[in-house]
Amino acid sequence: MITKLFVIFIFFFIDFSSSKKLEYKKYNNYKYYDIKGDERALEHLKILMQEKDDTLFYSSNRKSAQILVAPELNSVFLEIAKNDKVNTTLVYDDVSEVIRSEKPTISRRKNKRFSWDTYYDIDDIYKYLSDVSRTYPLWTEVIVGGMTYEGRQIRGLRINTPTEEGVEKPVFFIESGIHAREWIAPATTTYFINQLLTSSNRNVTRLRDQFDWRIFPTVNPDGYHYSYVFDRYWRKTRSISSNGCIGADPNRNWDYNWGQYSTSNNPCDYQVYAGSRPFSEIETKTLSSYISEIDNLLFYVAFHSYASLLLVPYSDSTEHVHNYEDLVQIGKVSLDYGYRVNTEKYSGPGTAAETLYKASGGSMDWVRYALNTPLVYTYELRGSSFHWPPEKIPEQGEEVTQMILGLATEAENLGYYYSDIA
Ligand SMILES: *[C@@H]1O[C@H](CO)[C@@H](O)[C@H](O)[C@H]1NC(C)=O
Ligand SMILES: *[C@@H]1O[C@H](CO)[C@@H](O)[C@H](O)[C@H]1NC(C)=O
Ligand SMILES: [Zn+2]
Repeated sequence: MITKLFVIFIFFFIDFSSSKKLEYKKYNNYKYYDIKGDERALEHLKILMQEKDDTLFYSSNRKSAQILVAPELNSVFLEIAKNDKVNTTLVYDDVSEVIRSEKPTISRRKNKRFSWDTYYDIDDIYKYLSDVSRTYPLWTEVIVGGMTYEGRQIRGLRINTPTEEGVEKPVFFIESGIHAREWIAPATTTYFINQLLTSSNRNVTRLRDQFDWRIFPTVNPDGYHYSYVFDRYWRKTRSISSNGCIGADPNRNWDYNWGQYSTSNNPCDYQVYAGSRPFSEIETKTLSSYISEIDNLLFYVAFHSYASLLLVPYSDSTEHVHNYEDLVQIGKVSLDYGYRVNTEKYSGPGTAAETLYKASGGSMDWVRYALNTPLVYTYELRGSSFHWPPEKIPEQGEEVTQMILGLATEAENLGYYYSDIA
């Protein structure tokens, strides 16, 4: 009884104390479709649906498009699709069931052991970083790459095993989870951290020792937390625009050809609002200055999902950077290494403009252009939705571990760095 009263009290407290009541968006009976048709038909369908639902989730690449349809719009959606000659395949009849399956049960959370068969909220991920830094205090430390709108730190892990005096290792930077809803990216990244720290495979321990690692499981922690507790399909940051709409796409906000392609200047756009100006978001502003201060930055690798694709700079031009051939060669070896794990084929390596679509204001382009970092990549991990099954996180994690090993191996072969580690 006391417990019951207490629970009721808490509910009242939440209801009356916050001016803006946030309710978990359940997506009951929302349907997720894979759709195929010619490009103009798909665009037409998207625009008509957007008029009816301004939080529409829609995603496309050259091969396919996916759309999330509210139950009350399902019949009108099917009718438009039929008129437009767009083929529809129902992937999930009720996405709320999928969303529920992604989180640990309460009893599992009490058990407290971080694992790779479920998805965790940001505090648990940060706790994992602190825990491992205490387990390996001599060569790991929690690092802060920037700040967020809601006052969080962008936390990562530095892994830097001792070398002979005076030997400076090249830096390998991993940016993950810049888009909040791409949950497999942070999960894979902590999986990779765990591999570097605990694997006894000689190839992996050698990889660990070759670089000064700066690994950030999520560089958009506000958005990730919001996606975890309020809206599974949230992508942006959580800043408030002058018109009251929330969030900017942090991968359209970097100061390189800002605001040109695949972006929106409407702060209410659910997906790709570029922000009010380059680096308007504190996340990209602080993270970019952190990256600028790194000496000897050799690799910058970003993880997204989903498309099974490897991209090299630039994303908004078909022009090739001067070491494009090397980037492609190194990227190919990376994909070969990954393929051996699950025989999953990725497209690329290539520029986004040639393999996906042009997009401006992304981190990869800025890092390459502003810092002249030699080896810059963006991986779109696997899947046909943002719901990668939690029990298959290790499968994607192993693939990523091998893909990174492939990158490092071929870069060394091509003379991008020398290592005297046997
Ligand atoms: C749609 O489905 C029909 C019948 O199966 C097929 O003939 C057509 O090629 C499909 N169109 C697209 C764009 O996939
Ligand atoms: C290490 O990598 C080499 C080259 O890819 C491979 O032949 C070897 O089997 C790997 N060793 C281990 C222990 O995985
Ligand atoms: Zn993304």
